Amino acid sequence: MATVQLKKLQKAHGPVARALRTLRPWATFFRQFVKHPAMIGSIIPSSNALVQSMLAPVDWSTTRLFVEYGPGVGTFTRPILDKMRPDAMLVAIDTNADFVRYLNGDIADHRFRAVHGSAVDVRSIIAEYGFSEADYILSGLPFSTLPEGVGPQIAEETHAALRPGGTFLVYQYSRFVQAVLSPSFSKIDTALEWINIPPCRMFWATKEAPLAQAA
Ligand SMILES: C[S@@+](CC[C@H](N)C(=O)[O-])C[C@H]1O[C@@H](n2cnc3c(N)ncnc32)[C@H](O)[C@@H]1O
Repeated sequence: MATVQLKKLQKAHGPVARALRTLRPWATFFRQFVKHPAMIGSIIPSSNALVQSMLAPVDWSTTRLFVEYGPGVGTFTRPILDKMRPDAMLVAIDTNADFVRYLNGDIADHRFRAVHGSAVDVRSIIAEYGFSEADYILSGLPFSTLPEGVGPQIAEETHAALRPGGTFLVYQYSRFVQAVLSPSFSKIDTALEWINIPPCRMFWATKEAPLAQAA
């Protein structure tokens, strides 16, 4: 029944249908925040300014596999798909089954899969799609409120899942995550995006590439 109503809403025209389509992701996000505040970590989705700043350094021409942790209602997911090559793939991993169901129902794109699981299992999840490494991994995870030990484990697994020269992109409201990333990543660039509620810190942690062989 809910699926039938959703399909009708997706096809409907007019200002009311447009307003409902705009509000639906926000309502879904807020409902999940009320149910799981520590796992969601934020009361509203990220701003478009944050999405564009965070993704600015990505080289889309060489990206074959992009992984997103904690997509929520897809605030980053859709812009990533807009920028990705036609033969690239986006795997989004979320522990919240309602978000995964929502995304797989709402985004019809052969390059996209939302997977119900934890970022800790990134390597086995990408292996299911035939990949041994990712070019970029983006995290929307609330590192400061994750259960004890999970953050460092995600940082280690992410480092192992990235190709040499690949980047882990992380946005957070505090500097907390820098200490979680530092043991795994030696190069971390940072910046602040003011146009977000609240202003948000951005981290780009790059996996070191092997030194070029001497001739
Ligand atoms: C702040 S929301 C991010 C939403 C969205 N990316 C945005 O920027 O608007 C955090 C998301 O991380 C998910 N999450 C929490 N722990 C996770 C884990 N270990 N693995 C994957 N997703 C997780 C939550 O279910 C939630 O969807």
